[in-house]
Amino acid sequence: MGHVSVLSLFLGSLALSSIFGIQAESPYVYLTWRITYATIYPGNFPPQRGILINGQFPGPTIGVNTNDNLIITIINDLDDPFLMTWNGIWQRKNSWQDGVLGTNCPIPPRSNYTYTMQVKDQIGTYMYFPFTLMHRVSGGFGSINVYRRSVIALPYPEPAGEHTLLIGDWYKTDHKVLQKRLDNGYGMPMPDGLLINGLQNFSTDRVYTGQAGKTYLFRVANVGIMTSINVRIQDHTMKLVEVEGSHVLQETYESLDVHPGQSLTFLVTLNGVIKDYYIVASTRFTRPILSTTATLHYDGSIITATGPLPSAPAFEVHGSMKQARTFRRNLTANAARPNPQGSFRYGEINITRTLVLGNSAEKINGKLQYGVNNVSYVNPTTPLKLADYYNIPGVFDLNTSRDKPTPGPMTQGTIVYGLALHDFVEIIFQNNEATTQSWHLDGYNVFVVGFGSSEWTPKRRSEYNLVDAVSRSTVQVFRNSWTAVLGSLDNKGMWNLRSAIWHRQYLGQQVYLRVWNDETSLTTEYDIPPNALKCGNAAI
Ligand SMILES: *[C@@H]1O[C@H](CO)[C@@H](O)[C@H](O)[C@H]1NC(C)=O
Ligand SMILES: *[C@@H]1O[C@H](CO)[C@@H](O)[C@H](O)[C@H]1NC(C)=O
Ligand SMILES: *[C@@H]1O[C@H](CO)[C@@H](O)[C@H](O)[C@H]1NC(C)=O
Ligand SMILES: *[C@@H]1O[C@H](CO)[C@@H](O)[C@H](O)[C@H]1NC(C)=O
Ligand SMILES: *[C@@H]1O[C@H](CO)[C@@H](O)[C@H](O)[C@H]1NC(C)=O
Ligand SMILES: *[C@@H]1O[C@H](CO)[C@@H](O)[C@H](O)[C@H]1NC(C)=O
Repeated sequence: MGHVSVLSLFLGSLALSSIFGIQAESPYVYLTWRITYATIYPGNFPPQRGILINGQFPGPTIGVNTNDNLIITIINDLDDPFLMTWNGIWQRKNSWQDGVLGTNCPIPPRSNYTYTMQVKDQIGTYMYFPFTLMHRVSGGFGSINVYRRSVIALPYPEPAGEHTLLIGDWYKTDHKVLQKRLDNGYGMPMPDGLLINGLQNFSTDRVYTGQAGKTYLFRVANVGIMTSINVRIQDHTMKLVEVEGSHVLQETYESLDVHPGQSLTFLVTLNGVIKDYYIVASTRFTRPILSTTATLHYDGSIITATGPLPSAPAFEVHGSMKQARTFRRNLTANAARPNPQGSFRYGEINITRTLVLGNSAEKINGKLQYGVNNVSYVNPTTPLKLADYYNIPGVFDLNTSRDKPTPGPMTQGTIVYGLALHDFVEIIFQNNEATTQSWHLDGYNVFVVGFGSSEWTPKRRSEYNLVDAVSRSTVQVFRNSWTAVLGSLDNKGMWNLRSAIWHRQYLGQQVYLRVWNDETSLTTEYDIPPNALKCGNAAI
């Protein structure tokens, strides 16, 4: 625990600590995580090499209260450079700790890095996973559950207990084999199945228990690589309460769609007869449909789950889009603060910039790449954030970016959008491909104001929800459709906007937003952390 005492010394001064993104008056949570390879046995799959954290697959659940400081040392025992990213954690004023290649040098093998961050004003369910290469195909992911402080009221009665379900598609193939396949210009194969907390159809091992008559909170994160999933529980309904840090108008569903990178929280009341029931997850919009089960066990039950599984929703996109429109913010619930990111009355703010981002796939020099407005992102060897800080020229310029779809052919570039701190942006994700997309923005939640089919036009603005749209960090875009979001850019930094479909991100479907003002002030952005790793031209 030597590093803990060194850090505590360093944290001794409040003045110092607020420079580097930690608040001395809020509690600290210290974690030391060793990242290793080991053989895992994911259910009905043959044993394979997994990525473990302190010997665990999936990784440990982080449970913290909102505003806690998290100090996490990652020891990289893999044979590759490694970064962990904290999906949905806003990293206010602190893109230094985001753990993506545009802000951090990867942690070299056999060395470590200590992340220092605060989970500020965000109560909800989030996840972490490796950002580098295709590591997350083999594990390294886990849940981040952010609880309220006792002074904050929840907009629902305290549940009798809670369960966290990390659900995602899974490959029998090692991450390096899949990565090589992508590097060689081929696409990603269909996954081999789905896992719930690392297991498939192991109903006897994946059992979530509760007492008849009581209500339990279920936290679900889609940690998968490419497929949207649908979750449902035999003979039970789910009352949605929270989506990525927003408390929603509580509605009851038979099943819920969760797209890659998304997370949500719902309540389940155990109002059936005392027995066991199936929890089912199945892929959405795929043929064939992959599915897996776990068990909801009533205390005292001696009857295992039987009977037909609750049926999957209709294959069509329509029902899923309709469900997405029912996710609305509860304007009177203050648990996550009414104004966590951006403005409360977002519908009254004038848009200062519109970006229409179209995704596409194309071969460049015979190799499959994915792009945004026909530019496929290439990671520079010097992280963008370090290039900015040290004024290193030639890493990026702000004119590679394109505000709207642009005729091809697709080119490669380091795409950074130059945006002003406090800009109010409208981003339209235009998907003219036949597969569902999922986009994630670091550093922010944005208001998801509209979903529609075919081509977005400015006329579609009249259909936006300008009152109570849910605010979240990951949005789906249905096939041949668009999704519109609005966001107040009040978090200075270099922020990754990426496809949450991991091979698409890896092969170029990502950009960075540089949210900037020329004034250097610790009130808008923390200073570079003293332990920042240096690489590329920043190492010289
Ligand atoms: C992290 O690396 C430094 C040297 O770079 C070493 O002194 C320290 O002990 C390491 N910490 C852990 C927890 O392994
Ligand atoms: C898991 O269970 C689902 C639902 O019963 C079934 O469709 C699937 O084939 C099972 N998978 C395996 C690998 O047994
Ligand atoms: C909205 O939040 C309030 C708490 O402020 C809660 O009492 C109410 O039930 C919630 N409404 C819905 C529809 O979820
Ligand atoms: C928004 O724009 C309208 C017209 O373009 C202008 O009249 C109004 O003052 C603006 N509102 C704000 C808050 O800037
Ligand atoms: C990019 O923009 C800068 C100003 O920001 C300008 O000096 C430069 O010529 C532009 N480069 C290209 C290739 O257009
Ligand atoms: C990319 O280029 C192709 C070919 O010119 C064009 O049809 C397509 O609309 C472009 N897509 C985007 C998203 O810019």
